Amino acid sequence: MSFISRVGLLLMALWCVNLAYAASEQKSSEKALREHYDLREGKRLYEQYCRFCHGEQGKGQAFDVTPPPADLTSPAVQKKSDAELAQTIHEGERGTAMGAWKWTLSEKEKQHVLLYIRWLAR
Ligand code: HEC
Repeated sequence: MSFISRVGLLLMALWCVNLAYAASEQKSSEKALREHYDLREGKRLYEQYCRFCHGEQGKGQAFDVTPPPADLTSPAVQKKSDAELAQTIHEGERGTAMGAWKWTLSEKEKQHVLLYIRWLAR
C-alpha cells in the first residue's frame, strides 16, 4: 500500500470517528434539553397541585393535617422506587389528606412531578 493511500485511509477513519462523536454529542444534548423541559413542567405542576401541602421545598408540614404531609425530600420517601411513589401519587393514601391524582394528572405529568420531587431532594 502506498504512503498516500495509507494517509487516505487514516483520514477516512478519523472522519468516521468524528461523525460518530458528533452524533452522540447531539443525542446527549437533546436528552439534557428534554430533561430540562420535563423538570420545568414538573415544577409547574408541583406548584399548582402539591406545594400547598408539601411546601415550596417539598419538606412537608405546609398544611396542618394529621398525619402531616410527608417530607418528600426525606430519605424515607426518597429510598422508595419511582414505581412506588408514582403509585401513591396515582391512588393517594387512604385515610390521609393525600388524595388520588389519577383524574388530574396524566401518566406523563405524574412522571414530570416525580422527576421534580427527585430534583428537590438532590
Ligand atoms: C391536601 C394535602 C396534600 C396535597 C395537596 C398533596 N399531598 Fe402528598 N401527602 C399528603 C399527606 C398528608 C401525606 C402523608 C400520608 C401518610 O402519612 O401516609 C402525603 C404523602 C405523599 C407521598 C408519599 C410519601 C411516602 O412516604 O411514600 C407522596 C409521594 C406525595 N404525597 C406526593 C404528592 C404529590 C406529587 C402531590 C401533588 C400532585 C401531593 N402529594 C399533593 C398531603 C397532600
